[in-house]
Amino acid sequence: MLNHNGVVLLHGPPGSGKTTLCKALAQKVTIRQSKSFTGGRLVEVNCQELLSRWFGESAKRLSKLFDDIATMAEEDDGENLVCVLFDEVETLARARELTGDTPDAMRVTNQLLTCLSNIKEKPNILVLCTSNLFGVLDKAFLDRCDVVQEIPGPGQGAAYVIFAQCLNTLLDIGQVVFPDLCDVHYVENCGSCKRRLQPRFPNPSEVRVRFRDLLSTPQNYLWRIAEASVGLSGRNMRRLPVQALTKYTYITPRTVQEALSALHRLVTEEKIKPTL
Ligand SMILES: Nc1ncnc2c1ncn2[C@@H]1O[C@H](COP(=O)(O)OP(=O)(O)OP(=O)(O)O)[C@@H](O)[C@H]1O
Ligand SMILES: [Mg+2]
Repeated sequence: MLNHNGVVLLHGPPGSGKTTLCKALAQKVTIRQSKSFTGGRLVEVNCQELLSRWFGESAKRLSKLFDDIATMAEEDDGENLVCVLFDEVETLARARELTGDTPDAMRVTNQLLTCLSNIKEKPNILVLCTSNLFGVLDKAFLDRCDVVQEIPGPGQGAAYVIFAQCLNTLLDIGQVVFPDLCDVHYVENCGSCKRRLQPRFPNPSEVRVRFRDLLSTPQNYLWRIAEASVGLSGRNMRRLPVQALTKYTYITPRTVQEALSALHRLVTEEKIKPTL
């Protein structure tokens, strides 16, 4: 007989996109399972807020939370898929041998294990967990996870996508401009709404296939900046384009070249910053 618990764990360094991926996964699974379930719900649990300084209270709260989730799953004759997101699950699933002289932490881990076993029989509950402290997770908790997937920080392709999305937004709102349309090697025409031709950064496969020999194109420059940024967190990358403009450019609107030079400078700075 197949044995599964309906628990997924994504772990990896801070800002690698674990929480974002869990939310996307919940949405995707709900859509994929639309033949079995008529709808879906996402319950986001703030693990820190569940903890109480009163002895035994945290475990009680956790138990109550799972009771509520079970009730929710039974509503509408069990036709809804209930996805529960435990962000930073190490707060609740700390290895019991590490809980030392804090017996309450051990009770919380025990309670979580019991609760996960109890909901195992419910086919319409999916538990999604994230952690950036994989090493402190309880072994019995890991045994209950059907999927344990490491999510590393963004590679060159993902970094390019993050930067391109930010820069395209800045282009849309006119904070950055392509000064000369001759410089634009990729143009997206929004035919349905008859907007003027809007230059944009293309997706990474376009950069690799169509532009790899044109070293001077903005998209190629961005591709090289993305390569230089590997090692930074996705969260950090997302704020760099705007920060680069405010820090290293002085006139609005900035040309794409100015924006890219500023971004390159900031990325280089961030890479040599000592990690705390
Ligand atoms: N590979 C990626 N591609 C696109 N965006 C990413 C990627 N990784 C991170 N991000 C972006 O970084 C930001 C932070 O992501 P998120 O909060 O999901 O990270 P996290 O892994 O949960 O971080 P933490 O461990 O600190 O909780 C989000 O805006 C997300 O869109
Ligand atoms: Mg997170």
